[in-house]
Amino acid sequence: MNRKTILLLTSGGDSPGMNAAIRAVVRSAIANKVEVIGVKRGFEGLINGDFTPMNLRSVADIIHRGGTILYTSRSVNFKTESGLHKASQNCKKMGTDVVIIGGDGSFIGLKELSETGVNCIGIPATIDSDIACTDYTIGFDTAMNTAMQMVDRIRDTAQSNDKCNIVEVMGRKSGNIALRTGIGVGATAILVPEIECDISRDVIDRIKFTQSIGKKHFIVVVAEGTGKTREVAQKIKSELQIEAITTILGHVQRGGSPTLRDRIIASEMGCKAVSLVQNNQKNRIIAYKNGKIVDYDIRKALSMKQKFDFNLYNQALKISI
Ligand code: F6P
Repeated sequence: MNRKTILLLTSGGDSPGMNAAIRAVVRSAIANKVEVIGVKRGFEGLINGDFTPMNLRSVADIIHRGGTILYTSRSVNFKTESGLHKASQNCKKMGTDVVIIGGDGSFIGLKELSETGVNCIGIPATIDSDIACTDYTIGFDTAMNTAMQMVDRIRDTAQSNDKCNIVEVMGRKSGNIALRTGIGVGATAILVPEIECDISRDVIDRIKFTQSIGKKHFIVVVAEGTGKTREVAQKIKSELQIEAITTILGHVQRGGSPTLRDRIIASEMGCKAVSLVQNNQKNRIIAYKNGKIVDYDIRKALSMKQKFDFNLYNQALKISI
């Protein structure tokens, strides 16, 4: 039997826990006599042949580190016909399977690569947890905890000064971080891109109500994808005459040491990727479903529709008051 080789890359926005996944792929591959070659800077490295052999020691001391030791990129070249062709040729020349750790954009690229005849496996990693086929993506827990800790600090000062703090969290298309962070910090209002918002009803009236029952400091969590952060701050100032301070958390949410949950799920998914390669499973996306690590055909995975947790949102409306 031919010895198997994996080309391993991280792609798109990095997320905490990617290193733990890299480590798991490399270590479980070597344990199973599968060779791993690291690709630098995602699809860009696949096109340019920027490869580096990996061994047990090349993944030492990384399980606790944020970012990705393989670097990442959002490759524009890969979206061109010639970029895809070069990447595919490089994979075929080496006779390898490809394992990609990344988000939904990377999986679309993975599907295109698989259609050129390269065997591909995807491991879901993005702080946004917005990949339809999986209940969880590597990095989400760390990002939420980072956001929550940052808002806790902001809250200390908001509470001491009777102010309103508007905190923008990441999520270009997804309100997942905003919703959970908002619940975790007891935000008076939470705005997400999945729900059309009316600032008067969803923010101003809620603050007025909590004022009427004695509250004097307020946290409003806004997902960046709503594009409403500035407007919310202006309306609070003009309609309620309270000082409204805006903090955009930004990339602080993407970095940092991964939580235990992220390290464990990343480790499990990394091992699963190797077992799929070993068992000649082709073109699969790994997912976390109902507490279990499973896998789906790429096309099926990408045809699934993302569901926002409206129940959780409605609960938040009742208790964050
Ligand atoms: O990784 C997902 C994400 O963090 C989004 O929430 C955010 O909008 C985006 O990436 C920003 O990434 P970049 O700065 O790399 O474009």
